[in-house]
Amino acid sequence: MTNEPIAVPGPLSDRHVVLGVTGSIACYKAIDIASQLVQAGAIVDVAMTESATKFVPALTFRSLTAREPYVDMWHPHGEFGEAHVELARRADVMLIAPGTASTMARLAHGLADDFVSLTALATQAPLLLAPAMDAQMWSHAATQANRALLEERGVQFIGPAEGRLASGRVGAGRLVEPGAIVAELRARVGRERGDLRGRTVIVSAGGTREAIDPVRYVGNHSSGKMGHAIAEAARDRGAEVILVTTVPEIAPAAVTVVPVSSAGSMQAAIHERAGSADALVMAAAVADYRPASAADQKIKRADAGDMAIELMENEDIIASVTGDLVKVAFAAETQDLIANAEKKLAAKGARLIVANDVTAADAGFGTDTNRITILDDQGGREVVPLMSKYGCATRILDRVAALLG
Ligand code: CTP
Repeated sequence: MTNEPIAVPGPLSDRHVVLGVTGSIACYKAIDIASQLVQAGAIVDVAMTESATKFVPALTFRSLTAREPYVDMWHPHGEFGEAHVELARRADVMLIAPGTASTMARLAHGLADDFVSLTALATQAPLLLAPAMDAQMWSHAATQANRALLEERGVQFIGPAEGRLASGRVGAGRLVEPGAIVAELRARVGRERGDLRGRTVIVSAGGTREAIDPVRYVGNHSSGKMGHAIAEAARDRGAEVILVTTVPEIAPAAVTVVPVSSAGSMQAAIHERAGSADALVMAAAVADYRPASAADQKIKRADAGDMAIELMENEDIIASVTGDLVKVAFAAETQDLIANAEKKLAAKGARLIVANDVTAADAGFGTDTNRITILDDQGGREVVPLMSKYGCATRILDRVAALLG
């Protein structure tokens, strides 16, 4: 037996992605995109314009993808006759990143005079485009008209982001960061074929903070990683994800993030959205008590003696959510794991409860792996071996998807 976490396939595993790279200084970021796609298990074919090769040689992509990039339209690609048609047919999804203003113009007008525009015109696969150009070019009426036309035809734009541009100016036109582009691609593939497509899933994550005064709070050791992994995995399966979190700074891309702090604000955010949700996964570590009153000003050290903070009870959020949605609770325990989890499953009216022993070194708070047992309201128990938190999320969502039918 090994203690290596078990790897799980993601939405891009064995998917055929055509990465179109066009001539922008942001081409160097396409190297990272190609690498991330390969690491996600995708079969990546790179199509490049001649201008793109001025910034990054085709060899770089060949080394990363272990496949010959497509650059020269007239080069006889040995395996088949019409290379672009075959490439376009095999694509599960096509991503153009970076996409220049002239590439957008080509696509908008159906021109096909380089490998990227040729393949884009020939494919029926979903097309995503991450623009990169100077702010003046992006805001130009011609570019905006092309964008509108392409969006109308179903092209999904990712960005551009605002920030510092190669010209030294600041504005809209930066290529979105590679990680966020790949996240959008995963979400899109999920929405095309994932088993949670069309579903809305609310996930809560992180430990709540109950204010004592403007600078101090009562908190706990939850890192939010498990909840965020569930949000990411649900997004990858096509769900519309609402992530109610106390740690928004580490939230995955392509989900709706609702930042909260206290149990009260988390409860309000969840209640507001639960009516239209299909499932609620309460991975957050919610404080059961809060200071009876939070001081308006910082509490000063007293001249002598101890101090006491009076606590009052918070409502149980998951128990308070009613309606026709699948509720999944968590039970983070330090003793009597299964017995405690069984009690909570019934008390909270959940269909599933995920039990984990937070005293284990490789499971629980702050770790990247977890070791969970999923209990259901029919008396079933599923012991999940040590896995990445994403892997655990996948197993939890397998059960949620089955319950949703
Ligand atoms: N939970 C909640 N609202 C609370 C407290 C907990 O919705 N006020 C949810 C958690 O998000 C989790 C489940 O209830 O999904 C169990 O949380 P846990 O802290 O383990 O259990 P408690 O019910 O608070 O019981 P105890 O602290 O006594 O173990």
